[in-house]
Amino acid sequence: MGVFDQVTLLLPDSIFQLNTSYQADIRKNKVDLGVGVYKNENLLAEILPSVEKAQKYLLKNEKTKTYLPIEGDPLFLKAVGQLVFGANFFSAHQERLVAVQAIGGTGALKLAGIFLKQELSSKVYVSNPTWPNHQGIFRNCGLQVYSYPYYDKSNRCIEFEKLMQFLSLIEEKSILVLHACCHNPTGMDLTPAQSKILLKVCQDKKIIPLFDCAYLGLGESIQKDRAMIRLFAEEGMEMLVAFSCSKNFGLYAERVGALWILVESCSVKENVISQLKKIIRTNYSNPPKYGAQIVTHILSSNLKKEWELELFSMRKRMNQMRHSLCAYLKKHLFLKQGLGMFGLSGLNHSQVKQLQEEYAIYMTANGRMNFCGLNAGNVKYVAQSLLDVICEE
Ligand SMILES: Cc1ncc(COP(=O)(O)O)c(C=O)c1O
Repeated sequence: MGVFDQVTLLLPDSIFQLNTSYQADIRKNKVDLGVGVYKNENLLAEILPSVEKAQKYLLKNEKTKTYLPIEGDPLFLKAVGQLVFGANFFSAHQERLVAVQAIGGTGALKLAGIFLKQELSSKVYVSNPTWPNHQGIFRNCGLQVYSYPYYDKSNRCIEFEKLMQFLSLIEEKSILVLHACCHNPTGMDLTPAQSKILLKVCQDKKIIPLFDCAYLGLGESIQKDRAMIRLFAEEGMEMLVAFSCSKNFGLYAERVGALWILVESCSVKENVISQLKKIIRTNYSNPPKYGAQIVTHILSSNLKKEWELELFSMRKRMNQMRHSLCAYLKKHLFLKQGLGMFGLSGLNHSQVKQLQEEYAIYMTANGRMNFCGLNAGNVKYVAQSLLDVICEE
């Protein structure tokens, strides 16, 4: 008997599995509304021109491949810090902002999870529904994970009152995972007025917000997309922000991200950073350099303007596709309300399966659609297929 004979077989990750099934599908009319990657009108996940230029610059100017500091590249952390918090806030509050580079948004969430388990061991609350990996990441850190009410499936809106009621009952120092913008999977974000009410509850209950910021710039604008983070930060909340450069820079495979912990007093900053550095050192020693350098170069050169225009056209295309699908769906106009890549179609498991089997249209089992899988050539087909499947019920 081998020592590993007792290892049990787990099911493959559902999103990656969906992508594999899509790739293997030989039907010509197949449509991929699954994995959360931006695709252009030709349905290609191309490298952004600003990124290509930054790569050329690096090829010429990079002098060394030696290790980065454990906490990451200081120039990267400054550039993305200014992006996420705004330059003014960032410079005024630097001494309270603990910053470390991370392996994508997932890596930032994981570092946050390990740190929170070690230091507070509080309960973690994630929205219902949420990006499924949230549960896995925090459970894997040994934290207890629960859901908070967020989206009312029947009425297709945020169930804000229920959320407020729920939060009034949770324990002090609970951790509340909030999507900074472009909520995954619903595409439905809190309004500025709702964010203010939420802030008050978080202050009263001493709740610790952990913002997951994976779609900055892909909702309305960089300024509007970071508004909730700014609101909470300006009101003096102690909080965490996990940031990803995967979607907005199209740097998925380079694994670029950052984690900030905004502490109340600068006197604890050194202690907090020392613990994060120990966590990093004993997990992967120090972060990867290449993708972070691309982002740093873009944000600190005249490529920044070019990248902002690219973001603008990504947003425009996603919005156009959302609206164009809605125009065909007529009655199902609810999809129009959201922002970003995703929306919930309202399809149940068996309808999603039927859509995949009979129409070669792929979406995640919860009925989430990535609008980037649509273009002028397939949107009518997708709308008609959705209607066929819905009307068969
Ligand atoms: C809500 C949310 N958070 C975090 C991530 C992780 O991003 P990354 O690929 O940078 O790890 C994703 C990716 O899909 C996401 O949708």
